[in-house]
Amino acid sequence: MTALDARTDTTTVLRFPEGFRWGTATAAYQIEGAAAEDGRTPSIWDTFSRTPGKVRNGDTGDIAADHYHRVDEDVALMRRLGVTDYRFSIAWPRVQPTGRGPAVRKGLDFYRRLADRLLEAGIRPVATLYHWDLPQELEDAGGWPHRETAYRFAEYAGIMADALGDRVATWTTLNEPWCAAFLGYGSGEHAPGHTSALGSLRAAHHLNLAHGLAARTLRGALPGAAEVSLTLNLHAVRALSQAPEDVDAARRIDAVANRIFLDPVFHGRLPEDLVRDTAPVTDWSFVRDGDLATAAAPLDFLGINYYSPSVVAAGASEAPSAWAGAEQHVRFEPAPGPRTAMDWPVDANGLHELLVRLRDELPGVPLVITENGAAYDDYADPSGNVKDPERVAYLHGHLAAVHRALADGADVRGYFLWSLLDNFEWAYGYSKRFGIVHVDFATQRRTLKDSARWYAEVIARGGLTETP
Ligand code: FCB
Repeated sequence: MTALDARTDTTTVLRFPEGFRWGTATAAYQIEGAAAEDGRTPSIWDTFSRTPGKVRNGDTGDIAADHYHRVDEDVALMRRLGVTDYRFSIAWPRVQPTGRGPAVRKGLDFYRRLADRLLEAGIRPVATLYHWDLPQELEDAGGWPHRETAYRFAEYAGIMADALGDRVATWTTLNEPWCAAFLGYGSGEHAPGHTSALGSLRAAHHLNLAHGLAARTLRGALPGAAEVSLTLNLHAVRALSQAPEDVDAARRIDAVANRIFLDPVFHGRLPEDLVRDTAPVTDWSFVRDGDLATAAAPLDFLGINYYSPSVVAAGASEAPSAWAGAEQHVRFEPAPGPRTAMDWPVDANGLHELLVRLRDELPGVPLVITENGAAYDDYADPSGNVKDPERVAYLHGHLAAVHRALADGADVRGYFLWSLLDNFEWAYGYSKRFGIVHVDFATQRRTLKDSARWYAEVIARGGLTETP
């Protein structure tokens, strides 16, 4: 497809703007392995995955996709695909093992080498500082419900800016603070596995504070042209019906899943209805003067991770829940339509809805889809092919939704496909495959799935054909 001539190509009907960023995304704990090498210490995910019953099949990230030892091969794969950008995360316990004090050179060298290989391949490195692997020592000291963790994070941000600022120009502070706060400290489905409504709200606030402190540190330490961002997994929430109770259930989830981050980060305030809804849990006195202004540091773009929409109605959810203050009022309903191997509904309209909402609510803030993709039960057939037509259809549908949002005036600058490689899918272990590159975890052999070839064509064409 590299021979494709844009002037004569009439089959590309949905063309993306010049300069649109076409990427893939991964996260450190999900692919790196080398869990105890070169000075890395355990993160909360090492501890959690070793706790019986927390991760399917007792899987851990000890080896994962062995990316730590296969950086060259993995960058070569991306070069073959023609991606313009690669979003990876930095493992905090690899570069600052106790979450305090000086950095470990070997850890920094690993990321320097990754960035150099990417630049040599003509791929822009996009670094995320926190994709959920908090150093265990910081969790032992109180974790995200504890204010001090925010200051530790800002210090770590400064270390990384100094180490990589000469080669990495695009930075994201946090990936999906909602998951870190509410799955980590509310429902307990993610590390560190705590179940406290108060803990989850405190964590959310300290993550907002950490983001703001780190954004300021990054700005101070990076060259002026560097980009600073945050990635949220905004929930596309729909009420089951227009009955006022169902509409109010949707409002509650919007408050505790979306506006709890959007309002502090973009407006320097807490949503009033959230404070009301959560009054039985907390009076928010852990928010100190100036915190919300700190959280509202100016950003170059907002990253959005989207997989599927949620449908809610008036009712009650099971405790412990990820919905502090809302669990007595809201129940989740299965959304209609086809599903992925995660049992997540496939509905690209949710992505369009979110982008159009952000167009209206955050004028002037560029948007980047920092994750989108799907898990299916892929396997390599005897001739070594991995056919994944459902993933191709999912990706085509979601990219078409992004295109529609662009046409409707949303300022979307890029799309990062989750994920480059099959990997450790958190509480699901290796049972769920999100990669466009198949990984045989016994041999670490990488095989391009059909979706990888398809994505390479989309990038080369700069857009989509009518059907996948
Ligand atoms: C997101 C995470 C990412 C991956 C996808 C499927 O919530 O950021 O690490 O697990 O879901």
